Amino acid sequence: MAAVRVLVFNAEEEYTATLRSTLLSFSGVKIVAEVDEPAVMAHALNQFPADVLVANLDPVPEAVLPMLEEVAQTNKKVEVFAVSNSTDGQLILAAMRHGIREFLTKPIDDNALGNALGKVAERHSGDDPQGKLVTVIGGAGGVGATTIAVNLAVELKELTSAGVAVVDLDHRFGQVATHLDVDPTYTMADLCDNPTQLEYQMIERALVKHQSGVQILSRPNQFMQADNITAAHCVGVLSTLLAQNDYVVVDGPTRFDFGTKAVLDISDFNMLVLQLVVPTVRSVHRMLEGMTEVGFNLDRMKLVCNRVGGESGGITPEDVRDTLNMDVFGEVPDDWNAVNAAINVGEPLSASSPKSKVRQAIRGMAMRLHDPNGEITEEPKEAKKGGILSKIF
Ligand SMILES: Nc1ncnc2c1ncn2[C@@H]1O[C@H](COP(=O)(O)OP(=O)(O)OP(=O)(O)O)[C@@H](O)[C@H]1O
Ligand SMILES: [Mg+2]
Repeated sequence: MAAVRVLVFNAEEEYTATLRSTLLSFSGVKIVAEVDEPAVMAHALNQFPADVLVANLDPVPEAVLPMLEEVAQTNKKVEVFAVSNSTDGQLILAAMRHGIREFLTKPIDDNALGNALGKVAERHSGDDPQGKLVTVIGGAGGVGATTIAVNLAVELKELTSAGVAVVDLDHRFGQVATHLDVDPTYTMADLCDNPTQLEYQMIERALVKHQSGVQILSRPNQFMQADNITAAHCVGVLSTLLAQNDYVVVDGPTRFDFGTKAVLDISDFNMLVLQLVVPTVRSVHRMLEGMTEVGFNLDRMKLVCNRVGGESGGITPEDVRDTLNMDVFGEVPDDWNAVNAAINVGEPLSASSPKSKVRQAIRGMAMRLHDPNGEITEEPKEAKKGGILSKIF
């Protein structure tokens, strides 16, 4: 299904995870924002580009319906879906009179929701296609997230003639510009003065074009400017970039900071990078558990083991797979010389060590993201429950 951007209204805390997981189980769905106050719905729709507003009417439908009517009238492009426990014909009729397109009764029927979302996607099929958002996050600090994000962006650019951008969301310590040896005048910080929707021209001024063709949006030049950046700013910038690029690769957010959930909710793929050491595997395990609790779709998560074959102290990617009960999407070999030579001269691996195994591994991941049905060179290994680390959890 093509991308469908959803704004969620839900004032029932105990229903949050269920609603999120139901929506995110559809591959094109991106949750651009979640609000729990009827009064801020209209403001949120101004701030975040959305195709559908999915509103939970419970527990007090009478309080929510008038707001939905206002939204339906003032935002003709946004379709409104209502969700409720109630099967009361009068309420359903009232909802329809208030401009609501779909009324979904709890528990939401997957087919009914899938059909409704499919119709929205179809109605938007003539719009400019949205690019794919690939986030790269580290299961711990220093595991190689920046190295993988930067090189993945460069490899994706080689696979597509359309635009590819890489965005540094490590607002304080980000090194994307250093890895690619560029010196930005304007950065993410300059896009965060204005809280309303961004024009692409504003973003264009802040993008630096690398010789590979990848456009770079860097972290703020001044350390303290990071304080002014909010999750809403990040979602706004990324949404605008997705309208102009085939791929937007994001380095970060780091350490699961405040904006992480908002960015992951609009991502198509999340590369979760880890190294073969117990503390990192444990952190990833906790992270995955936490994400499942809040209704995140783990199918979008891609585990990447970095520095494989180095001094791993006995843990293998197979152990990681079995412990986390999740397939490993990519294995990047350990190659200190190639990686550090590239970083120190500020070049991607495709320029400084094109034949290195580490470059080939990242290129392989880019190819599989770009064309999941392409030629498979290696049989995926099925995850089995258990494994040598299971006893530590
Ligand atoms: N495959 C690899 N082989 C050898 N060294 C690597 C590899 N990947 C990354 N490194 C090294 O690990 C160090 C950290 O890499 P990088 O900055 O990409 O990690 P990070 O996860 O972004 O760190 P941070 O948490 O500080 O943002 C660098 O010195 C880099 O050279
Ligand atoms: Mg980094």
